[in-house]
Amino acid sequence: MVAQALLDRLGADPIKKAQLLTGEWAIRMLALALAVTPVRLLTGWGWLQLYRRPLGLFAAWYAALHVTVFFALDLALAFDEFASEIVKRPYLTLGMLAFSLLLVLAATSTKGWVRRLGARRWQAVHRLVYVAAAAALVHFFWSQKKDITDPLIWSVVFAALAAVRVWHRSAHRMGATTAESA
Ligand code: HEM
Repeated sequence: MVAQALLDRLGADPIKKAQLLTGEWAIRMLALALAVTPVRLLTGWGWLQLYRRPLGLFAAWYAALHVTVFFALDLALAFDEFASEIVKRPYLTLGMLAFSLLLVLAATSTKGWVRRLGARRWQAVHRLVYVAAAAALVHFFWSQKKDITDPLIWSVVFAALAAVRVWHRSAHRMGATTAESA
């Protein structure tokens, strides 16, 4: 993106283009991070789990770039305006909610934090990733002026990933009940 900007290939409105590109990469990385467990459950590829944290961190990183483009380039570091935009525009409020949650999850993604919180509590905190994903999707829908095809496609992707987890959990529970009664 920086190379394209330097070569003047980001189109007529390069700031807007950078805003959209970073937002798109943030949502892609979030989807990939959330795809790790469902794909592992479907395929049995345990090694995939190694990529969950880096992908989650990439999502937080792209979201940070996305916010930086908005704050530093679009608003020229005008903090008052930034704060009032977040309060005034619901799609930005939700974007900020998603971003703040991703920051908390990134900060607590280390082994040290798993130890400090205990596995159960850590897992409960990290379930907030679903709230972040939902807020990011609504932010995506509301950011679109006319065509909602893209956020619709991403909603189907996120819903399918969640469905695999729910299906796996209920199949697991049914298996346990059958084994208990046998
Ligand atoms: C996890 C957090 C976030 C994600 C995943 C995300 C993702 C996205 C996506 C996918 C788009 C649409 C891109 C397109 O139309 O091709 C977008 C647009 C946008 N987002 Fe975010 N976003 C997040 C947080 C934020 C935050 C915190 C802000 C600002 C404080 C923000 C500001 C914007 C703006 C200004 C647009 C462009 C709207 C327009 O078309 O004019 N986003 N975002």
